[in-house]
Amino acid sequence: MKNDPHEWNIVPVPIYKDDSVFDIKLNPVKGVKHPFECDLYSGVKDVIDFENKKVLDYGGSFGNLIISSNGKIKEENYTCLDVDNVALEMGRKRFPHSTWLYHNRYNPMYNFQGNDTFSHQLETYDIIFAYSVFTHTSYEEFIWTIEKLKQYLNPNGSIFVTVCLQQDTRLLEWYRSRRIDEFGNQDNYELNDSYICITDNIQSEIIPNNCNRLLTFYDEEFIMKIGKVHKAKIAQTLIEIEKQ
Ligand SMILES: C[S@@+](CC[C@H](N)C(=O)[O-])C[C@H]1O[C@@H](n2cnc3c(N)ncnc32)[C@H](O)[C@@H]1O
Repeated sequence: MKNDPHEWNIVPVPIYKDDSVFDIKLNPVKGVKHPFECDLYSGVKDVIDFENKKVLDYGGSFGNLIISSNGKIKEENYTCLDVDNVALEMGRKRFPHSTWLYHNRYNPMYNFQGNDTFSHQLETYDIIFAYSVFTHTSYEEFIWTIEKLKQYLNPNGSIFVTVCLQQDTRLLEWYRSRRIDEFGNQDNYELNDSYICITDNIQSEIIPNNCNRLLTFYDEEFIMKIGKVHKAKIAQTLIEIEKQ
């Protein structure tokens, strides 16, 4: 089955065709909405120097980033913030000296009963990282949150987030086949020069209050106005946003 995570061990590297493919292990994790254990650290370590840095993993779930860093990110330097309390509890058990923060912010796919506040008094960080979080939010939520997170950056700190690009045909098709497996069909993607949203198996400009799946695909040139695109060995595209 195409959506069996054990089968998905080859992940395309977007944009940079010379790298072509990269192996990533996806093992299912029971009880959380984001169900995969995967090696995020190896894929980004050539771009992001995490060593001895204070890290906020925004939407970090149960801690794939710190797990795969194999000690390079020190437990006490790592904070994870997420809307999924079950995932956070799993992370907390594994890394009790890290900080695990529940964030009851609205997300139509992950937390439709959440609210629109951002009440955390966070510390400040050298690196704020968000893998595959704004892939599953509206554009407005993405921009709003980035501006908010800039307040929690140390001088010379950076925000690294991943996005899915409309130009990344293999990723588009991979998601399409997963949605067809799940829903029986999937709208054709009508690409544009900014971003498109897919809610469940439908492309729509209106995001419902509650949906099972939400994906936002960005146009590459559009995203380059928001941040610098990096070459990283991960499934999605890594962009760096500076504090300014
Ligand atoms: C696809 S998962 C990625 C998890 C993790 N970054 C990783 O790659 O292993 C998306 C994560 O973002 C979290 N999330 C979604 N909206 C969020 C928000 N507004 N604030 C914090 N976390 C959020 C979800 O609960 C989920 O754990």
